[in-house]
Amino acid sequence: MNVLFVASECAPFIKTGGLADVIGAVPKALAAEDVSVRVLIPAYPALAELAGSGAEVMAIADLFGGPARVLTVQAEGLDVLLLEAGHLFDRPGSIYLGPDGQDWGDNDLRFAALSFVGAQIAMNGVGGWSPDVVNAHDWQAGLVPAYLRQSGDQTPVVMTIHNIAFQGLFDATRLGALGLDASLFTPDGIEYFGKISFLKAGLALANKITTVSPTYAAEIMTLEFGMGLDGLLRARQADVSGILNGIDVDVWSPEADPELVAPYSARSLKGKAKNKAEVMSRFGLEPGAGPLFCVVSRLTSQKGLDLLLECLPVLEAQDARLALLGSGEPGLEQAFVDASRRSTGRVGTIIGYDEGLSHLMQGGSDAILIPSRFEPCGLTQLYGLRYGTLPVVARTGGLADTIIDANAAAELAGCATGFQFAPINATMLGHAITRACTAYRQPKTWAAMMRRAMRHPVGWDLSAAAYFDVYRSAQSS
Ligand code: ADP
Ligand code: GLC
Repeated sequence: MNVLFVASECAPFIKTGGLADVIGAVPKALAAEDVSVRVLIPAYPALAELAGSGAEVMAIADLFGGPARVLTVQAEGLDVLLLEAGHLFDRPGSIYLGPDGQDWGDNDLRFAALSFVGAQIAMNGVGGWSPDVVNAHDWQAGLVPAYLRQSGDQTPVVMTIHNIAFQGLFDATRLGALGLDASLFTPDGIEYFGKISFLKAGLALANKITTVSPTYAAEIMTLEFGMGLDGLLRARQADVSGILNGIDVDVWSPEADPELVAPYSARSLKGKAKNKAEVMSRFGLEPGAGPLFCVVSRLTSQKGLDLLLECLPVLEAQDARLALLGSGEPGLEQAFVDASRRSTGRVGTIIGYDEGLSHLMQGGSDAILIPSRFEPCGLTQLYGLRYGTLPVVARTGGLADTIIDANAAAELAGCATGFQFAPINATMLGHAITRACTAYRQPKTWAAMMRRAMRHPVGWDLSAAAYFDVYRSAQSS
C-alpha cells in the first residue's frame, strides 16, 4: 500500500513540537506493515541543503502567486517530497510566525498550497508513484480532501488530529483566493461560524478521522475539549479512532544516545548519575536531598506550567530541584526566569529550543513534570518512561493512557510507572509532586519503578498496525 503523508513538520528536518517526531517516525514503523510512505512537507530554508540533493518530479508555473516545484529525496530513512515555493516558504524565522510573533499574514495561502499539491499528487501521481491513501495531519493539511472532492476525485483520505486547538481559521472572503468552490462553504463542509476552517474541512470531508490517543478521541467529542468541533465529531463518531503515539526507540535510547555523557540501561542504571551531574551543572543547580524534576515544553497555557509556578514552594519544602527548558508565551518565560533568580541553585531555567539538551535532560533527571490542561498524546512522558525519568502527569488525553499511577493498588500489583493527578489544579499537582518525592526517598521502590518504566513498551509497533487498519477501512468506505 502506498500512503502520502501531508504535514507541516517532520523530524529530524524541521520540528517545533511532537507533530514532527510523529511524522518522522510512523513511516519507518509502517514499512514493517508493507506500507510505503512518502512525506510531503514544505521546503523551508532549514531544508535548503536537503532540497539541494533532491530531484524535481513536479513543476507548477503558478501556485498561489509564484512558481513551485516538488523535489524527491531520501534521507534519514524517509522518502521525502519537498514542496519548494520560494514566495511562500523561503523566509527566515519561525515556520508559523513572523518576526512580530504573529502568524504569517499569508498562512492561509502557504498551507492551502501544501494541501493543493498533496491533492495533485493523489490525483496524478508523482515520479511514477501514486498513493492509495492520503493521511493529512493537522489543519495545515486539512484542505487536501476539499481540493480532491471539488475535482471529483475519490482518493481515500484519513485526517489525523494532533491538536484540535489549532484549526486554521480564515476570513470567508479568502475562498476565491484559495481556489475553493463556494459550494463547499456550508456548515457540513468547510464553514465554521462564518469563517473558513481548514481543520473542519478535513474532518468533514475525510473518509476516516484519527487522533493520537484513545482518551483524547473521547474527550474531543465533549463540549469541554472539542473546541467547537465536538458536534461534528460526535456525528462522525463511527469514523473516529484514537491511535496512541509511539516514539522512535532508536533515536530515544539511553543506551545509545550521543547527547548523554554516560549511557545506561534498565540492567545498569549507574550512568544516570553522571548525566544528572551534567544537567545540574548546566542549569546551575546545587545538590539537594530531593529528586531533580525537569520540564521540556512549549510554554503555553495548554501545558499548565502556570500551575507549576504555584507549586514551587512544594518543591522547596521537599528540597527538590527543577530544571526547565522551554520557550513560548513571554509572561511564562519571564516568570520562570524570575523564579530561577529568586531561588538560586534550586530552580534553573533555560529559555530556548535545544534538541540535544532535551535528550540530556531526559537522561539526567529523576522525574519529568507534565501538568497539561489538555494533551492529545504527549511525547515527553514517553521519553521519560524510556529513560527511567518518572513522569508526573495530569490525568488527561494521552497522559492518562500511557502512565500507570503509583496508587496503593498499582504498587501492590507492581505495575506503577509514574504519578497522575486530577482534577488539574495546583493543589493536586502539589500532592503529586509530594508523592513523587516520598517515593524517591525509598531508593528500592524508586529503582524498581524506573526499571519498570524503562521496560514499558513505547515503540510504534502496535500503533503502526492500527494505522494500517484505518487506511484499509478508508479504502473500503
Ligand atoms: P507538543 O507537540 O504539544 O509540543 P509533545 O509532548 O507531543 O508536545 O512533543 C513535544 C516535542 O518537542 C518533544 O519531542 C519535546 O522534547 C520537544 N520540545 C518541546 N520544547 C522543547 C525545547 N524547548 N527544546 C527542545 N525540545 C523541545
Ligand atoms: C500535538 C499535541 C501533542 C502530541 C503531538 C504529536 O502537538 O499537543 O500532545 O503528542 O501533537 O501527535
